[in-house]
Amino acid sequence: MPRTLRPRVFVTRQLPGEALGRLGKHVDLSVWEADMPPPPEALLAEAARADGLVTLLTDRVDARLLASAPSLRAVSNVAVGYDNIDVRACTERRVAVGNTPGALTETSADFAFALILGLARRVAEADAYVRAGHWRTWSPTLLLGTDVYGATLGIVGPGAIGSAVARRARGFGMRILYVGRQARPALEAETGAVRVDKAALLAEADIISLHVPLTPATRHWVGREELAAMKPGALLVNTARGGVVDPAALVEALRDGRLGGVALDVTDPEPLPPDSPLMTLPNVLLAPHIASASHATRGRMASMAVDNLLAALEGRRPPHCVNP
Ligand code: DGY
Repeated sequence: MPRTLRPRVFVTRQLPGEALGRLGKHVDLSVWEADMPPPPEALLAEAARADGLVTLLTDRVDARLLASAPSLRAVSNVAVGYDNIDVRACTERRVAVGNTPGALTETSADFAFALILGLARRVAEADAYVRAGHWRTWSPTLLLGTDVYGATLGIVGPGAIGSAVARRARGFGMRILYVGRQARPALEAETGAVRVDKAALLAEADIISLHVPLTPATRHWVGREELAAMKPGALLVNTARGGVVDPAALVEALRDGRLGGVALDVTDPEPLPPDSPLMTLPNVLLAPHIASASHATRGRMASMAVDNLLAALEGRRPPHCVNP
């Protein structure tokens, strides 16, 4: 295609793998080279002349951006979640929105399980203890944790990632409970998972793992009431979105000692401010939103995002399109 006729695409960060090289063969490509995301005004300015955007979960695509982007036809998010995008506004403007489901399921489930084990068995604390030179001798009371094998796991959101966590939990002899909008007979048959209501999951789970997208219905799904209803000493793991947990209520429950601990790959806000109590409270395991961060998976996500974008720019429905 002559260069002048090629669609213009702005990518909000460098991506791993070969995806951008491939995209560059079809479009007029411009990539934000900084490590930090483009500030909103810069994104607006780029969107104003773009036919397509490749975005990350740090980039807000809303009615204001759409109003300043007359030729925009497609937004391709390099993530399965798309709470950073106003899909309704995009749909009204006939802008296709793509995401990357499937690509990161197993990698994210591995990490959720790493956090479950790390939190229950105090792996980060143990590492810090040894490095600080505190280890003097074997002790029967040193860094005692919670058994994962045989514990009851409560899965909130038995979608692809929640189900993959349940399969791992089965190998650990866990009793698996889940809450979800619909029953999952295949998951139940494969893992022995039992669908329960929210009250039962909160009351019975030793460990709760969150796997719901962030929507108005799931914002603060774990709040003051839910934390009070959890089993004393229970552990909470969030690899979904920070907004699913009320941060103020979480800090209170940790300070009270009612919650046994929390592992957060996602927080609200992201990143946490340096003075957040979560930075200093014990029994808190933190990660910088890396559940999907393996070389292979991030390459796959970038590649899927490029496929989605190219399809939309060619006038086809993207293979993974979230517009209704
Ligand atoms: C997603 O894809 O939504 C994750 O949060 C980042 O991989």
